[in-house]
Amino acid sequence: MKKILKISMIALLSVTMYSCGSDSNSEATKDEAKKPATSMIADEVDPMDSKGIGPISSLTLADEVDATMAASGEEIFQAKCSACHKTDVKFIGPSPKGVLERRSPEWVMNMILNPEEMVANDPIAKELLVEYNMSPMANQNLTEEEARSVLEYFRTL
Ligand code: HEC
Repeated sequence: MKKILKISMIALLSVTMYSCGSDSNSEATKDEAKKPATSMIADEVDPMDSKGIGPISSLTLADEVDATMAASGEEIFQAKCSACHKTDVKFIGPSPKGVLERRSPEWVMNMILNPEEMVANDPIAKELLVEYNMSPMANQNLTEEEARSVLEYFRTL
């Protein structure tokens, strides 16, 4: 009696182990298949290393936020960006909250100043365009100085 119990325990255990293993395997295969081809390109790029495509090739931010610049950036944002961007939630475009934790400052500036080329040729922007249902980020014709103020405002969000 004891022996039969032992054997059936072992049998049960191996069935459980087998089914767990095969389950997670098939999940992984399904996830691979679901991934769109574009995300594989961007996966190879660390977003923080990418400076994007456009006029800004190098930008170092001071440790302290410049409050005057940020205030003027907020005004520009309300006038020219809030139709598509909300500071707290995803809207037509992504929320800019914490954007500098996922993108380099150069990339953000180039996305503001040169969105047409960015969504056409930058791997991260191309992927965002797909994620946002092919509605493209608009060029609001900001000057470099205005874009820089908006970036400073983003640091306060
Ligand atoms: C017509 C709508 C629209 C307007 C106006 C607009 N954007 Fe966008 N923005 C988008 C969309 C949509 C995306 C996502 C990328 C895409 O689909 O092209 C985006 C993406 C971005 C990104 C990248 C965010 C990230 O998470 O990587 C930044 C930064 C940005 N916009 C800043 C701005 C600023 C600053 C303004 C104002 C000067 C502005 N946008 C005006 C629609 C807009």
